[in-house]
Amino acid sequence: MEELRRTVLRNLVRAFPGAISGETLAQETGVSRVAVWKSIQTLRELGFPVESSRAGYRLRELPDFLFGPYLEAVLEGTFPNLRVVFYPEIPSTNAEAKKLAEEGYPEGTLVVTENQTQGRGRLGRGWFAERGKSLTVSLVLRPKLEPRWCPSLSLLTALSLAFALEGLGFPVTLKWPNDLYLSGKKVAGVLLESAMEMDRVEWVVVGVGVNVNGESFPPELADRATSLFLAKKEPLPRFQVLQAFLAALGKEYPRFIEEKSFTPWISAFSSRLPFLGKPVEVVLGEKVFQGIAERIDEDGALWVGEHRFPWGEVSLLVNL
Ligand code: BTN
Repeated sequence: MEELRRTVLRNLVRAFPGAISGETLAQETGVSRVAVWKSIQTLRELGFPVESSRAGYRLRELPDFLFGPYLEAVLEGTFPNLRVVFYPEIPSTNAEAKKLAEEGYPEGTLVVTENQTQGRGRLGRGWFAERGKSLTVSLVLRPKLEPRWCPSLSLLTALSLAFALEGLGFPVTLKWPNDLYLSGKKVAGVLLESAMEMDRVEWVVVGVGVNVNGESFPPELADRATSLFLAKKEPLPRFQVLQAFLAALGKEYPRFIEEKSFTPWISAFSSRLPFLGKPVEVVLGEKVFQGIAERIDEDGALWVGEHRFPWGEVSLLVNL
């Protein structure tokens, strides 16, 4: 997007829900009021609901668009050094973010798409997403950490997403290590992928998928998956979910890097785990273990009886 239009858009978003005068916009951008007016016309053609009155120009609402310059304006102040890389359609935001990380893109690079066609889930599974209705994003991080901290960073991401969704009025629960549930069905998932260099992390890609406005799921998922829309019967702009998530992660992540321990988050994470204290089954590669889910430790690992699981797939052996 042309620089002038980008700056006008950023100022309209900053002023929202208020107005900003053509004169102020002209001063901010260093161009004539006519040039500002032309930018406003183009923004309207792109679908932005810009009203004009004696007070100036204002956005009637913040639309649920995801493309770069707009998202950057809407997400301002949430996560440090955020740069949005938007694709109308892409196989997987994680695959793309990994490529960008390898090319040297900095921490704060956020890959976003309207339509993810080959989404990747944990343990080699796929991830279903609906064009225009799901939130599918991947954030590049370059934490100064040893590789052993990656599993707990993945728990921290899920917990940040839980804080975000709770703040928006959705009482989610967690399933270790990083699934989010709403009314007993999966509503969001997190997939962390990373590259190591000797004894330190080179980059981490934090992939987040949230079922936001989907109204139905394919038959094979229908009894296991839900969306925020199905919970409240009203649509929610996806950027609001993203905004809340990045603000939460932007708060927790720097502290995690400093603490180098999951300890400060154990109780918040555990209180959202309905299966703690219950009989569970953990699948770890070829092996299957059964026992009581005891606790989450300072590395984010799950203890089942005497066994410690740094990762794995857990399921309840009883109905809650
Ligand atoms: C899971 O629960 O299995 C993890 C799902 C993670 C899905 C997200 S959607 C955005 C990002 N890109 C991907 O290909 N996967 C993650």
